[in-house]
Amino acid sequence: MTTLRLLFLFTFLATITLAVPFPVRKSNISKRSFKVPRNLNTANPRGLNGPDAMRKIFRKYGWVHGGFIAINKDEEGSFLRPKVTAAKETNDTGTVAALPEDNASQFLSPVEIGGQMFNLDFDSGSSDLWVFSTDLPEKAIASHAAFDASKSTTFKKLEGAQFQISYGDGSGAAGTVGTDAVTIGGVTVQNQAIELANAVSRSFVEDTNTDGLVGLAFSNLNTVNDGTQKTPQKTFFDNVMNDLDLPVFTADLDPDGTGVYEFGKIDASKFQGEMAWIPVNASSGFWQIDSAKFSVGNETFTNRAASKAIADTGTSLLLVDQAVAETYYQQVQGAQLDAQVGGFVYPCDAQLPDMAVAIGDSYMARIPGNQITFATVDEANTTCFGGVQGNMGSGMQIYGDVLFKAQFVAFNGGNQSLGFGEKPPR
Ligand SMILES: *[C@@H]1O[C@H](CO)[C@@H](O)[C@H](O)[C@H]1NC(C)=O
Ligand SMILES: *[C@@H]1O[C@H](CO)[C@@H](O)[C@H](O)[C@H]1NC(C)=O
Ligand SMILES: *[C@@H]1O[C@H](CO)[C@@H](O)[C@H](O)[C@H]1NC(C)=O
Ligand SMILES: *[C@@H]1O[C@H](CO)[C@@H](O)[C@H](O)[C@H]1NC(C)=O
Ligand SMILES: *[C@@H]1O[C@H](CO)[C@@H](O)[C@H](O)[C@H]1NC(C)=O
Ligand SMILES: *[C@@H]1O[C@H](CO)[C@@H](O)[C@H](O)[C@H]1NC(C)=O
Ligand SMILES: *[C@@H]1O[C@H](CO)[C@@H](O)[C@H](O)[C@H]1NC(C)=O
Repeated sequence: MTTLRLLFLFTFLATITLAVPFPVRKSNISKRSFKVPRNLNTANPRGLNGPDAMRKIFRKYGWVHGGFIAINKDEEGSFLRPKVTAAKETNDTGTVAALPEDNASQFLSPVEIGGQMFNLDFDSGSSDLWVFSTDLPEKAIASHAAFDASKSTTFKKLEGAQFQISYGDGSGAAGTVGTDAVTIGGVTVQNQAIELANAVSRSFVEDTNTDGLVGLAFSNLNTVNDGTQKTPQKTFFDNVMNDLDLPVFTADLDPDGTGVYEFGKIDASKFQGEMAWIPVNASSGFWQIDSAKFSVGNETFTNRAASKAIADTGTSLLLVDQAVAETYYQQVQGAQLDAQVGGFVYPCDAQLPDMAVAIGDSYMARIPGNQITFATVDEANTTCFGGVQGNMGSGMQIYGDVLFKAQFVAFNGGNQSLGFGEKPPR
């Protein structure tokens, strides 16, 4: 009797479920909010120097950093997408070759995939979750953690799928695609798309602590394809978003760039006053906003030919339109654009005014003057490299860590907006 009734009930429910795609979404993640530390990459103890930081940005977005000028749009007249073309090495002609290069990711967070641990770089400026894998030559793996699909009981290959994320100078990664259980901050997403590198550029090989990236931009930027067309896979954030208390992740960075990413919650004790919310334009796949005003000290300016701006946790600097950077450094005694170094430098004892950049129409994100310096340029520490730099006409403003150290930022995937709160003065 009981069994029959249960059976009936079960059948009845099954019928409903089949008949109407009823949205009974049962959450299967273990927590509705969680934190992930962002640690200093110990294999990169000296950190990035200024020119390296500039070079990394130009690489990442495929811009040509020809000595000092140059920069051109790609074929489609847009910088917006990592290329998904066949492997084709772009000739890297012009970088400032005399300077030592340091390609290491500065900050890493722990991630578990199919029971194996990795140190990955969380990047709100891209959308691929890729890792070193045992498909790579042993020499390339060296001391990296490499994902071994044969040792994971939960791994499934996505037949025919491949990925290739490549930057302007040919650096990047490529390989095959599968799904597996991915755990970040104690929360597991089953069947998360993971990309297994079977080729990585030398810069990734040399960065011995970074085992890959976790892309946190919108899923349409994902580079997975079936050989003929794009078949973008969902990011980790896209997969957990609806199971969180709030569909957000936040970046809370300390002055040294370490800090915490928190998913599902906005910790109001980390910033002053109310959070300002600004809608993003997600059509490019980036966390993109308008930013057509800026201020230097107490004076506000209009940036007439303003490029779009994106919020990018994978970039160190605040890269603004060239005219904005020029206006800023006009207010800094002794500042100059140094072609040799590759950016604006100034005497380390200069007084730096505060800088603010518009986030949408309604919010000015302020960076105190004493948080602008990025690094020293010389051994004696007399010349400093600014954390605010010009984009040399590349057509995009990229707001990286320099901004996140001064502002607590929430990335809201639910209503596609960015929340900004000013961090307490230090
Ligand atoms: C890159 O271009 C330069 C100048 O055109 C050329 O001399 C060099 O051989 C090229 N390098 C590669 C790897 O194609
Ligand atoms: C950075 O990458 C370039 C090109 O791949 C390489 O020549 C250089 O040695 C690397 N620098 C470091 C510090 O890994
Ligand atoms: C929840 O479980 C279902 C079925 O096992 C799976 O398809 C889905 O990806 C899981 N969702 C998350 C967020 O892990
Ligand atoms: C987005 O969501 C946040 C948090 O729930 C809310 O405060 C904000 O007003 C929303 N913003 C927009 C642009 O809809
Ligand atoms: C959003 O961005 C795209 C690409 O950058 C642009 O074409 C479009 O006009 C933008 N939409 C709005 C509403 O600004
Ligand atoms: C900015 O304005 C405040 C208040 O009006 C004033 O105290 C401060 O000196 C001004 N700062 C600069 C750099 O002009
Ligand atoms: C320059 O700064 C670095 C890092 O703070 C420090 O280790 C070094 O001793 C300084 N050099 C001089 C000459 O002050």
